[in-house]
Amino acid sequence: MPIESNRKPLVIGNWKMNGSSAANASLLRGVLPLVSIFESVDVAICPPFPYLTTVADLLDNSDVGLGAQNLSEQRSGACTGEVSASMLHDVGCRFVLVGHSERRTLYAEDDELVANKFSAALHAGLTPVLCVGETLEQRQRGETRALVTTQLNAVLKVVGITDLARGVIAYEPVWAIGTGETATPGQAQAVHRHIRQWLADRDRTAAAQCRILYGGSVKADNAEQLFGQPDIDGGLIGGASLDVQSFAAICRAAQSEPASDSIAI
Ligand code: 13P
Repeated sequence: MPIESNRKPLVIGNWKMNGSSAANASLLRGVLPLVSIFESVDVAICPPFPYLTTVADLLDNSDVGLGAQNLSEQRSGACTGEVSASMLHDVGCRFVLVGHSERRTLYAEDDELVANKFSAALHAGLTPVLCVGETLEQRQRGETRALVTTQLNAVLKVVGITDLARGVIAYEPVWAIGTGETATPGQAQAVHRHIRQWLADRDRTAAAQCRILYGGSVKADNAEQLFGQPDIDGGLIGGASLDVQSFAAICRAAQSEPASDSIAI
């Protein structure tokens, strides 16, 4: 029997490589008053590195959290162009995306590097958001669950189940990212349930607590159905997070459903 859980929905806007000082200020001027009324939803945004400090200032009097889109797996030193977890923490980040599919495919981040980044984030006091998900070819070959399991196992091996569940997991099917082709609520729920079961097989408390977000063409008009699924605890939002009304509507859609699991935990 499904049981009620106290997971608070979380919606994260991933701005990717978009924005400018003026555009960010204007976007947040619109978004903050609209989303700060949703007390039952945690909201965060992940701007590009150069804007973290100014966005931190703009978020100062709000409950909206700050996150980064990437980090180095190294602590400090001769790593030109890299940004460490402690630097992100220092400028006010609470979250950091780890292993986004664009990092995995465009910048050749493999499972081992992703796991080390996850570990570095946790050690600096950040909440890593571990992105997992399959390509269209992998889905068509019926490899979705195996692939997601491999991605989870790589992090498990480095940090263990308790620390893995201290992070957030984001299921983002690669074929749904930026394509306008969203996974159906049923397709997404099936993978989320698989992830929840994978967690529960190792630690039932961790499984009950860990938030699993869906990402991939979430829009104002499909968010409610997706977030209504028992194992979907919110969303990781790309394109729609750049639009005031869309992002606010997506945050609103996350507030209605109390989380309940599809499996007895
Ligand atoms: P879109 O919402 O633009 O599909 O992007 C999803 C994503 O990659 C969020 O990290």
